[in-house]
Amino acid sequence: ETTKSGLRKDFLWGGAVAANQLEGAWNVDGKGVSVSDIMTAGAYQKPREITDGIIAGKNYPNHEAIDFYHQYKGDIKLFAEMGFKCFRTSIAWTRIFPNGDEKEPNEAGLKFYDDMFDECLKYGIEPVITLSHFEMPYHLVEEYGGWRNRKVIDFFVKFATVCFKRYKNKVKYWMTFNEINNQTTYTNDFSIATDSGLIFRNNESEAEREALMYQASHYEVVASALAVKIGHKINPDFEIGNMVNFTPVYPASSDPRDILLAEKAMQRRYWWSDVQALGEYPVGMEAYFKNHDLRPDITEEDRVVLREGTVDYVGFSYYNSMTVKYSDDNPEFKFVGDRETVKNPNLKYNDWGWPVDPIGLRYSMNWLTEHYHKPLMIVENGFGAYDKVESDGIHDDYRVDYLRAHVKQMITAVNEDGVDLLGYTPWGCIDLVSAGTGQMSKRYGFIYVDKDDEGNGTLERSKKDSFYWYQKVIRSNGSEL
Ligand code: BG6
Repeated sequence: ETTKSGLRKDFLWGGAVAANQLEGAWNVDGKGVSVSDIMTAGAYQKPREITDGIIAGKNYPNHEAIDFYHQYKGDIKLFAEMGFKCFRTSIAWTRIFPNGDEKEPNEAGLKFYDDMFDECLKYGIEPVITLSHFEMPYHLVEEYGGWRNRKVIDFFVKFATVCFKRYKNKVKYWMTFNEINNQTTYTNDFSIATDSGLIFRNNESEAEREALMYQASHYEVVASALAVKIGHKINPDFEIGNMVNFTPVYPASSDPRDILLAEKAMQRRYWWSDVQALGEYPVGMEAYFKNHDLRPDITEEDRVVLREGTVDYVGFSYYNSMTVKYSDDNPEFKFVGDRETVKNPNLKYNDWGWPVDPIGLRYSMNWLTEHYHKPLMIVENGFGAYDKVESDGIHDDYRVDYLRAHVKQMITAVNEDGVDLLGYTPWGCIDLVSAGTGQMSKRYGFIYVDKDDEGNGTLERSKKDSFYWYQKVIRSNGSEL
């Protein structure tokens, strides 16, 4: 059933966050150290340092974050006031299995999520849960080398099974791995550490990094498919999705070489979702693996699991598009990321160099629907910006402009292009620690949190202008923008 805007009556409006970026309480109630806990604060063009364990005196912004662990009741109340129908967050793996390889889960961690989900349900807010969002136990990195090790599949499946069983009557919507495809850019230390727990401390060559990334990714898609299968057994009503960072790749010109490079980049970035949604590797990637001796460890049994564990819906984040240009240094049409990317003269850029491209969202929704024939959920979208607190409030019209333009394109894709869309959860509905930079000052929220990049502030919450705008959007189910 649809409403005036064309969106479903039960459309899941909400907001998205991740445990490691807002909970804080990094060592409370038995929680173990995760890969996000060993990342220092960076800034625009200053990468976060990934330290070897926790080093005294360094600034680790995720340790306290915005202290949602202790303040969730007030925050969820504000979400309810905005009218949220759902709330996307993740379960910190290290609260449940502090080291990742324990026999028994940590009851205090399980209890936290029980209470937090109850608080959501009290207001009719449906939790939408990511199992792994950049927060794998650091012990699994040190002891097993992260996802390069097949054993980690069992650890993850155990974690997923414990969560599915415990919350089977509280959570219906799940996702396995957040932005599993960021590691396409395996030259980026942050992406590969957060996606796969691969930390390179021995000057590994680019070729070695690439090989490890593909093997690790294979184990992850197998683990994801196993989780989907097990989840459906535990509760057949579960809706279990995958989650990709969807950044459509445009050719810089009509030069056929630019077009081919853009197509190869799309193959390189989205094979994970092909496997998760369709149950098998696309032929282009199989050919690439064969020609370059990559992903040596794949069994017949793995292939069966992949076929049987396809997702119910495709979850994706959308922030922007990217544009690529061919160069003679790259006759193989390889795509890793920044090297091939150029500025798009048609778009404006934010303070962190991210382009703003609302039509790209409609394009993405078309692409994903045509490829996968599954319902979609937009589980992240948003505008990182510096906010200014003025005596009469926080006037973030730039954020409203961004979101309004994207919601318009989203609704057009539903009405004009026939896309089946389950929900929309803009990123960082409350200000939190930026994943990429570790900053507090790169803000996405409707709710402001008083804290700066050095960790000073009262943590007090206040409503920005965008809070009231989004409230109106939800109340009208998208017909008043
Ligand atoms: C996505 C992640 O990459 O984008 C989030 O799933 C992240 O964890 C968000 O915070 C925005 O990126 P950033 O680097 O601005 O925090």
